[in-house]
Amino acid sequence: MRLAAAELVESREILPGQWIQAYHAPDLATGSRAGQFVHVRTGDLSGMVLRRPFSLNTTDAATGIVTIHFRVVGRGTDWFTRLRPGDEVDLLGPLGRPFEVDPRSQHVLLIAGGLGMAGVRMLADAAIRDGRQVTLLFGAASSREVYPSSLLPDEVEYIVATDDGSLGHHGFVTDLVPEYEAWADQAFACGPTGMLAALARQAAGRRQRLGVATLGRKRGGGKGDPGSTAARRKAFLQVSMEQNMGCAVGACLGCVVMATSGIPQRVCREGPVFAAEELAWEGAWA
Ligand SMILES: Cc1cc2nc3c(=O)[nH]c(=O)nc-3n(C[C@H](O)[C@H](O)[C@H](O)COP(=O)(O)OP(=O)(O)OC[C@H]3O[C@@H](n4cnc5c(N)ncnc54)[C@H](O)[C@@H]3O)c2cc1C
Ligand code: FES
Repeated sequence: MRLAAAELVESREILPGQWIQAYHAPDLATGSRAGQFVHVRTGDLSGMVLRRPFSLNTTDAATGIVTIHFRVVGRGTDWFTRLRPGDEVDLLGPLGRPFEVDPRSQHVLLIAGGLGMAGVRMLADAAIRDGRQVTLLFGAASSREVYPSSLLPDEVEYIVATDDGSLGHHGFVTDLVPEYEAWADQAFACGPTGMLAALARQAAGRRQRLGVATLGRKRGGGKGDPGSTAARRKAFLQVSMEQNMGCAVGACLGCVVMATSGIPQRVCREGPVFAAEELAWEGAWA
């Protein structure tokens, strides 16, 4: 984890109220993994003392550029839209634990709801770089909020669902998952908690429906601590969680979600990525 002064290189509104900003931050661009996030300080310390967390959307080690993709929801995110190229912010990161892809996974299913695209976008790049096939299922309320396919690598199969049917499948993105569950070796998701809970329920029944354990896994064999990196790497579904955050370094306990073990998990330290089966989806935060 490093504290880096990062210069804004480019800022553009890609959809109404949604922005992608590119920062020059070479240390972050080389040392970060998909699923991790940065905690960004606004320059307005009069009323915005707390940093704001954003997923690392893309990183490019060659240019030293990292991007974030955010929606304007309040004062902090609005402040960022008024930055101009050349302005500096300070970025703390990379924070949190990343997605863990099993080396045997050839078919990677990404599922994003709305701004959840920012949580899985970098994994698309990493998986393609590693020679895997990637299908990305994306859900939005309407065509006006659909992430542009031009911002994705050509190799990604991109399938869209909209709640109102104005583009792609008419319905929820979760409706599309059954068609891919036999194809996918692993799935990785980010989006609203309700969507993640629905995916966790679908994934829990997958083994029974397919009647096989994929990738030669022994039933529960050798998993050890369910929160360990090795256990997460074997999980079919990994989810990236969002909670309101204070410190983002594990000190304030402001970001906890409940594990099936009954032990609260800090999204900023034990997460934001968890194996879906680690979390108690019926808990109060869901
Ligand atoms: C690990 C992590 C990664 C994130 N990545 C992204 C990302 O890539 N893109 C993105 O647009 N947003 C992301 N968020 C959410 C983002 O941090 C908040 O939207 C942002 O901090 C709001 O700041 P604000 O000052 O504009 O809003 P505020 O004035 O602080 O709040 C305005 C509204 O946003 C809600 N809000 C504030 N913080 C969060 C939060 N953490 N999660 C959900 N709702 C929140 C508040 O409840 C309130 O309704 C992430 C959050 C976490 C914890
Ligand atoms: S935000 Fe403080 S412990 Fe996670």
